[in-house]
Amino acid sequence: MLLPSFEGVTVQRVTTAEEVAQWGPAFVDAYRHIFADAPYHEVFAEDEVDAIWRRLTAARGNITLIAIDPQGAVVGFGIAIPLAEAPDVARELNGLVPVKATSYLVELGVEASWRRRGLARHLVRLRIALLDRATTTHVVLRVAEGRSATFEMYRAMHFTDMGVSMQVRRLRTDGTLQTDVRHFMSRVLSQVQFEDDPTARE
Ligand SMILES: CC(C)(COP(=O)(O)OP(=O)(O)OC[C@H]1O[C@@H](n2cnc3c(N)ncnc32)[C@H](O)[C@@H]1OP(=O)(O)O)[C@@H](O)C(=O)NCCC(=O)NCCS
Repeated sequence: MLLPSFEGVTVQRVTTAEEVAQWGPAFVDAYRHIFADAPYHEVFAEDEVDAIWRRLTAARGNITLIAIDPQGAVVGFGIAIPLAEAPDVARELNGLVPVKATSYLVELGVEASWRRRGLARHLVRLRIALLDRATTTHVVLRVAEGRSATFEMYRAMHFTDMGVSMQVRRLRTDGTLQTDVRHFMSRVLSQVQFEDDPTARE
């Protein structure tokens, strides 16, 4: 499914098994590249990212968006899954949000050369616009500790800090194994519906 494009990049929703197979390698490349960069400096093996891609695209009700440049490279992605499909995260948030009616914005990334043009915001808004509001009332996500740019972006999009965090242990590009803290943010969908029209200007 083709979605509103963005300054020369095509945004596509990946739904079929053929599309999952077609875009997997380009997603793996983009993901490894984006998260090896600041601020995360994380090392992901190809197999590991391929497993992430397969798991998320197989999740019931997933919304998988990729941004493709004119050369066919994936330069951005945004994936949402029902919170119930991420049991480790759902466990942390149980009692704070209605798990069965909550969407989890699980992945977001934009290649460095495409940053600061509003592509991430576009991918967030499109995912929210594609949620079924009859069954989804809340949206949650995690941001890395001290990464104020991402935090500020979500705050500007009406997400609030839930005051809850969880630790993530990952291998970094300098070879060390480090733990960092991810903070949860949430938003109630019914409060701000109109602004989620991806064709609307903020
Ligand atoms: C975070 C990331 C997705 C932002 O992508 P992007 O396309 O550059 O973001 P946008 O252009 O849509 O920016 C939206 C807003 O976020 C904030 N923002 C984004 N990058 C910023 C930066 N480097 N410094 C300060 N603010 C920043 C700004 O408020 C910006 O709005 P503005 O440009 O109108 O001021 C991208 O930098 C990235 O992929 N980083 C590495 C992976 C990552 O951090 N993923 C998020 C995991 S929660």
